[in-house]
Amino acid sequence: MRIKDSGIVLTGASSGIGKDLLKMLLHEGARVYAVSREIEDTLTFAHKRLTTKNLDVSSEASLELLFQEAEEELGRIDAFIANAGFSYHEFLEEADWQHIVDIYETNVHSVIYSAIKMRELYADSPFHFMATLSAMSFLSLPGNALYSSTKAALRGFFDGFEQELLRKDQILQRVYPVATETEFFTRSGQIRKPPPVQSGYHVARRMLAGLKKDRRHIYPSKLFKYTWKFTPFFYRLYLARERKFFFESLTKDT
Ligand SMILES: NC(=O)c1ccc[n+]([C@@H]2O[C@H](COP(=O)([O-])OP(=O)(O)OC[C@H]3O[C@@H](n4cnc5c(N)ncnc54)[C@H](OP(=O)(O)O)[C@@H]3O)[C@@H](O)[C@H]2O)c1
Repeated sequence: MRIKDSGIVLTGASSGIGKDLLKMLLHEGARVYAVSREIEDTLTFAHKRLTTKNLDVSSEASLELLFQEAEEELGRIDAFIANAGFSYHEFLEEADWQHIVDIYETNVHSVIYSAIKMRELYADSPFHFMATLSAMSFLSLPGNALYSSTKAALRGFFDGFEQELLRKDQILQRVYPVATETEFFTRSGQIRKPPPVQSGYHVARRMLAGLKKDRRHIYPSKLFKYTWKFTPFFYRLYLARERKFFFESLTKDT
């Protein structure tokens, strides 16, 4: 898609991957409606083509408000980038009902609802809908089973939803980052990042390139993309190693 002058909604724009992508989109000439729960209090720069809004994406009411206000501001939403998300790094017994509800509302319900809403609003015209999934949508790691399940759920949804789209210029885009240097791990409580680790800037660059080229699947790590596809045996060893680190970290914590 053409980025210049396009109207883009970006969630999770206050930090990490989203914040880097926000700067790149503005640099490329997009008009951006950027949201997170605390973006108005934490973002340290302003821009004439940027509107910020403190908003929690995890409810239907707040998403309805987001679409209404973003359309008023942008005129038309050419691309919606559903990037907000989080993980709990925990032993599964700690995942009580509220944890399960909270992570699904933010990581899954919000993304699915927004994708359907885009199609409803722009049934007869082009649009882009991009979501930040994860390499963990394929490869579930110990301590992140619940998180992985949210991202895997999105893959299932995207694959089916894509079949229902009637226009070739309505483009669903999934991004599969590996571990990325952002606030994500601090927030989830995970001390050790599973290798390989990339920067938020790198992931944002790949997302921008993917947006421009209408890519449906974006793998910011080529190493992950090709080893996952062609050397499944490697991942049996990788998982065994990650499992060992996970149980060692639990022993240290207790
Ligand atoms: N870092 C990684 O290793 C990694 C790997 C694969 C995929 N991802 C995915 O990449 C995306 C971005 O994560 P990141 O690494 O950039 O982490 P991050 O630095 O923690 O950023 C997360 C962003 O989401 C916002 N957010 C969280 N919950 C929200 C909610 N309920 N409503 C609105 N905004 C919310 C946060 O801002 P507020 O606190 O102000 O709301 C923040 O802007 C996430 O979907 C994550 O699952 C990350």
